[in-house]
Amino acid sequence: MRVHNFSAGPAALPESVINEVREELPVYRDAGASVMEISHRSPQYTAIAESARTRMRSLLGIGDDWHVLFLHGGASTQFYQVPLNFLPEGATADYVDTGAWSAKAIKEARSVGNVNLAASSKEGNYTFIPSRGDWDVTPGAAYLHFTSNNTIHGTEYHVDPQVEAPLVCDASSDFLSRPIDMAGYGLIYAGAQKNLGPAGVTVVLVHDSFLAKRKDGVPTILDYRTHAEKLFHTPTVFAVYVVEKVLAWIEANGGLTGMAALNREKGALLYNRLDRTDFYRGTARPDSRSLMNVTFRLPSEDLEAEFVREAAKAGLAGLKGHRSVGGIRASTYNAVGMDSVSALVAFMDDFEARRG
Ligand SMILES: Cc1ncc(COP(=O)(O)O)c(C=O)c1O
Repeated sequence: MRVHNFSAGPAALPESVINEVREELPVYRDAGASVMEISHRSPQYTAIAESARTRMRSLLGIGDDWHVLFLHGGASTQFYQVPLNFLPEGATADYVDTGAWSAKAIKEARSVGNVNLAASSKEGNYTFIPSRGDWDVTPGAAYLHFTSNNTIHGTEYHVDPQVEAPLVCDASSDFLSRPIDMAGYGLIYAGAQKNLGPAGVTVVLVHDSFLAKRKDGVPTILDYRTHAEKLFHTPTVFAVYVVEKVLAWIEANGGLTGMAALNREKGALLYNRLDRTDFYRGTARPDSRSLMNVTFRLPSEDLEAEFVREAAKAGLAGLKGHRSVGGIRASTYNAVGMDSVSALVAFMDDFEARRG
């Protein structure tokens, strides 16, 4: 039996994708072997990767001036790779600190070059996105880095930052959950394991004009140009194969506007439930609430532990908050359906009626 899966990542995938993968697993189309057993230079894999790139560009409404890269190393490698390529000596990069993942990106960037902390919500326990009016940005900054959705703290930007510098975004936990106006961006990266597919592949979109600014002397494997120009080494074939199917599923379900509508609907149901009584307490400030990770507390840690235990027994999995902050976290990525959110709300009602 498949549970209602609220895991923060690796996370729920569309059931139809899982079924397609199962069908094709022993023999991939005309390959005579599974997709895991064929060359990454075979016509079959080449077609899969090309289709994934085409679908990605079509969903985002972008052209060939955007490179779509499928890299190894997770978003955590991007924390270092971005400044290594784009933060030259004498320049400054602006960073906005909205959570544990932003802080890790900042630490890596500082090991490479000059970082200006444009804004931070650390003093407020990362419960909000600092408003743009309070940011201290650097004129002529190499780029401004931000984390569009803060997986651990349950906050999300509701509007893209408006700054002069090219935007660099860690979109690991909300990529393709809504349309993005790509005009202000230089680079976006996302580990696949939340909204896009299985763990293993990191999707990086880099604009041609931004790529042109990369530094010389970057080690070959960490130089974005290496991967923009050719298939340099063995990619994560199986993960890219699944990502291609998830992109097709997004297309078939209304594209990014369809995803945004569904995510708004799920978010409204869950946040309205949280706000209905004082038993559940949302941790994010209402103007910064995430539609991907809904974080909340109960009156005591004992009740929280019980909530997670009983929910699991009722077929609602992955609700324990991140170990660094505790509480409850319901991750409601694209593939988590209304049926799962409704089941969670019904469980919350029942739990409160018994324990409130
Ligand atoms: C926003 C964000 N950035 C970065 C990471 C780290 O990703 P990875 O484990 O792929 O390095 C995560 C992981 O959960 C995340 O949520």
